[in-house]
Amino acid sequence: MHRAVKALCWSFALFLGYALCFHLSPMLAQTDLNGYWRLRTPNANGDGTFRETFFEIQQSGETISGSLIRGKNGIPINGTFKDGAIHFATVPPTPPPPPAGSTAPVRPPQRPVVYDGTFQGGKLVLHTAGRNGASVESEGDKVTKEATLPPAPLPLPALKDLPDNGLAKTPPMGWNSWNKFAGRVDDASVRGMADAMVSSGMSKAGYVYINIDDTWELGRDAQGNIVPNKKFPDMKALADYVHSKGLKIGIYSGPGPKTCAGYEGSFGHEIQDAKTYAAWGIDYLKYDLCSGLDIYKDDAPTLQALYQKMGEALQATGRPIVYSLCEYGRAAVWTGWGTKSGGNLWRTTGDITDKWNSMDKIGFSQLKLAEYAKPGHWNDPDMLEIGNGGMTGDEYRTHMSLWSLLAAPLIAGNDLRDMTDETKSILMNAEVIAIDQDPNYKPVQTLSTNDKIVTLWRPLHDGTIAVAIFNRGDAPADTGFAWSSLPAGFNGKGVKARDLWKHEAVAVSGDSFKTTVPTHGVVLLKVSAK
Ligand code: GLA
Repeated sequence: MHRAVKALCWSFALFLGYALCFHLSPMLAQTDLNGYWRLRTPNANGDGTFRETFFEIQQSGETISGSLIRGKNGIPINGTFKDGAIHFATVPPTPPPPPAGSTAPVRPPQRPVVYDGTFQGGKLVLHTAGRNGASVESEGDKVTKEATLPPAPLPLPALKDLPDNGLAKTPPMGWNSWNKFAGRVDDASVRGMADAMVSSGMSKAGYVYINIDDTWELGRDAQGNIVPNKKFPDMKALADYVHSKGLKIGIYSGPGPKTCAGYEGSFGHEIQDAKTYAAWGIDYLKYDLCSGLDIYKDDAPTLQALYQKMGEALQATGRPIVYSLCEYGRAAVWTGWGTKSGGNLWRTTGDITDKWNSMDKIGFSQLKLAEYAKPGHWNDPDMLEIGNGGMTGDEYRTHMSLWSLLAAPLIAGNDLRDMTDETKSILMNAEVIAIDQDPNYKPVQTLSTNDKIVTLWRPLHDGTIAVAIFNRGDAPADTGFAWSSLPAGFNGKGVKARDLWKHEAVAVSGDSFKTTVPTHGVVLLKVSAK
């Protein structure tokens, strides 16, 4: 063969070899999904932020298994991968059965999340069903195992008792964005809520804080400063606006790297964030544990140290900032460490929803905690759902009455721009608010209880008592109490009583007070000795 032809043949063979080695083999390797993946999903509210989810994928032929990595645990996944198309779903665990003897219903497992998509150019493009059923597209790339792990814990401060910040002498009153708006809260809605707080009469009734909950965060700038996302173009200007209405403004963060909605947390930036809040003019911080639980131990000393770190940072700013601990009642926060870490209020339960069962269960589980509250340091059974539409008027009157007897923070969670007269009459019942805000706090006590009718009373600073009969049953109840069963000082003849929902005097005659309490409703009285 001619030398030139030979050379040409060799070059062609070499080129073919090169092409095979450097082009085809990665394409073959790319079909191997084994390993760790990070999925970035745009948050549905269009604020330009992404939620990260991590997976471990094991591929065997056309079969996919592995797990969705969730904190210290994982949720198994299974599915298929064929011709570049991937399809898999989570396999949520079966919830544990109710404890022996409990009448609670067996909880159904959560619904699986289904992922469908393709693997192209080294990336996964997956679709899942969003909240309203619309398809949400996420992009996934391969990461190291380390990238899926929570960061190592940071050193925690030595425990000490922080001084009292002198705030929240009565339970805080205000509004918070989460229950109604969740991720849809933005600058315009917060301004609108400040306007409505004043125009509706809520501010006159005592509501003062306008609190932005989760999803305001974008990330950090090159200096590590927290930066709001595009829903909040100018936090300082927004705070100035809220202040111009005679109101105060609150914000939200947490001790972990991520908030509960997956946004930027204060992990390792506590002092810097507290300074930023103070510079913006923030008056209230809700600090939500969430991803802190993936990193730190879930015990009282650890949680105290975590909350103390931010409590101290807030106090060091010199600005009066109400400190709201959101740790879902873990590690008996009410027994002392909530106060020691600088907290003005602390969550005592999981999240409330706008349903009777949720409110009833949370509210009536709080009675034994009332003795731990004190001025400046309150139990927080979560925010109000009044006016959000999921309960009846009677149920919302129970919500307002019970929260007030408990001296719980009254943080409205509805759209203040759009309240029915009934909602206004509940949220702005001055006589009920006065119980909540009583300047000489004394814990609520039980007068009598059975599984449906619960009668509570609470001494008030003016020498009167509040007495409430709650009907937790599913039918109206003819009930009441003997006047002689009231506490000493109120069990003789000649007491006066006033119905705080009907706003009228109650005829005190005979031996007992008789009434009909509507289904899930309340009769709330103020009783004076003469
Ligand atoms: C947790 C809190 C809620 C709310 C959300 C925000 O669930 O308990 O009150 O702040 O986080 O993501």
